[in-house]
Amino acid sequence: MNRLIVKTQDGITKISRHIYGHFAEHLGRCIYGGFWVGNDREAAIPNTRGIRNDVVEALKRINIPNLRWPGGCFADEYHWKDGIGSERPKMVNTNWGGVTEDNSFGTHEFLDLCAQLGCEPYICGNVGSGTVQELSQWVEYCNFGGISPMADLRKKNGRADPWKTRFWGIGNESWGCGGNMTPEFYADNFRRYACYARNYGDTKLFKIACGASDFNYNWTRVLMEKVYKVAPNLINGLSLHYYTVPGDWSHKGSATEFNEAEWFTTMKKALAMDEAVRKHSIVMDEYDPARKVGMVVDEWGTWFDVEPGTNPGFLYQQNSLRDALVAGIHFNIFNNNAERVFMANIAQTINVLQSVILTEGPKMILTPTYHAFDMFKVHQDAVKLPVHLESDDVSGTSAVSASASMDGENRIHVSLTNIDPGREQTVAIELRGCVLSPSVKVTGQIITSENMQDHNTFNKPDAVKLSDFSSLSLSRSTLTVELPPKSVVTVELV
Ligand code: AHR
Repeated sequence: MNRLIVKTQDGITKISRHIYGHFAEHLGRCIYGGFWVGNDREAAIPNTRGIRNDVVEALKRINIPNLRWPGGCFADEYHWKDGIGSERPKMVNTNWGGVTEDNSFGTHEFLDLCAQLGCEPYICGNVGSGTVQELSQWVEYCNFGGISPMADLRKKNGRADPWKTRFWGIGNESWGCGGNMTPEFYADNFRRYACYARNYGDTKLFKIACGASDFNYNWTRVLMEKVYKVAPNLINGLSLHYYTVPGDWSHKGSATEFNEAEWFTTMKKALAMDEAVRKHSIVMDEYDPARKVGMVVDEWGTWFDVEPGTNPGFLYQQNSLRDALVAGIHFNIFNNNAERVFMANIAQTINVLQSVILTEGPKMILTPTYHAFDMFKVHQDAVKLPVHLESDDVSGTSAVSASASMDGENRIHVSLTNIDPGREQTVAIELRGCVLSPSVKVTGQIITSENMQDHNTFNKPDAVKLSDFSSLSLSRSTLTVELPPKSVVTVELV
């Protein structure tokens, strides 16, 4: 029997809605064909100023809070002036398939997309191959409301008002595809680039430094030592990238054809995000005990082999029930570490890696990961309720993961995952400090399916979906939940 204590009176920290953020890179069919069908490209698909209506509607339903763009590795080769105005030079997308990038989707199109989605843009600047002036001017172009060379250029291109873009990344993976830098060299560069990324009017920038990959705690330490300690006002966020890769990088494993051993490896690797978040936090705490610098996990998710027959540079993969479990595990980790984790961005929104949406011409399907975002949206901006979990063991790891929150209307939501593919897990939840009146209503939602490999296809788009869940019983202040094998559940108490 699993035991969960939810401390209903101890909520202090808000779970930032930005934890449920997204990432869209110029990679494969994420932007082109995924979000953007403008400029006559697949123009038969209903769109608003070139942006697919079906995609916008779907992402609005999950309350998408932010969208990171244009990369990824692409960001450090992207020169933003190529993507504005009527004359747009082409470039080679050297990172992703060597295809020609025609720059038809640029700053105006991205910020229009964010406005249609009702989400905050998060722009990642070019540090690897761009100049300080280039990044500085991009901020001026987006945010300055007065008369200036960049504001005038923006107006000439049809946009009078500044967009007031708050989130700016100063480079991406600067230790790798973003310039192959040492942490010391990057820290110095961060200070230069961040220094000239100016606040205009009332738009105070939230500047995000490139952080570590996986368990590279030295990178975090050097950044905190050489940036935060000496120039605390320059940095608001420090990123972390961690992908769930079941195999090694040459044989990552199939997205849909896998056995139980691979299921467990995937779950264990997803659960390792907890270690990464906690240990990077410990390093950050040493320098920043007040937790002023937010951890920004701006790339996370599963990374499998591409679907057979697709371009290896496009990173197109299917998405099964296993991905929904991975998403649920990550959300529980981020919720439970809400004191430090300010933002997270799944890689990537459409047609790339652990997508929430897949498209095929005019068709669109929602993946099991989409349904996990839908289920967990109740935690956005709610107050975290601390949890204490005693979980049964399965294959050498915890069968259950959990997190909880209370929203503005005093509704309690408890989210649970059961990675056990063969057995139900019963969880006795003690709602400590909560006097439950007889009128309290308990409802639930679940994502599960018969087989762990089940996934949605264009022919069968609803094979894995969100359903009502009722294996719940309430007695005094204990709620007993029977979690079916391989399931993600959220319970609501009103
Ligand atoms: O998301 C795909 C790639 O993974 C990104 O471009 C890069 O930042 C990371 O290595």
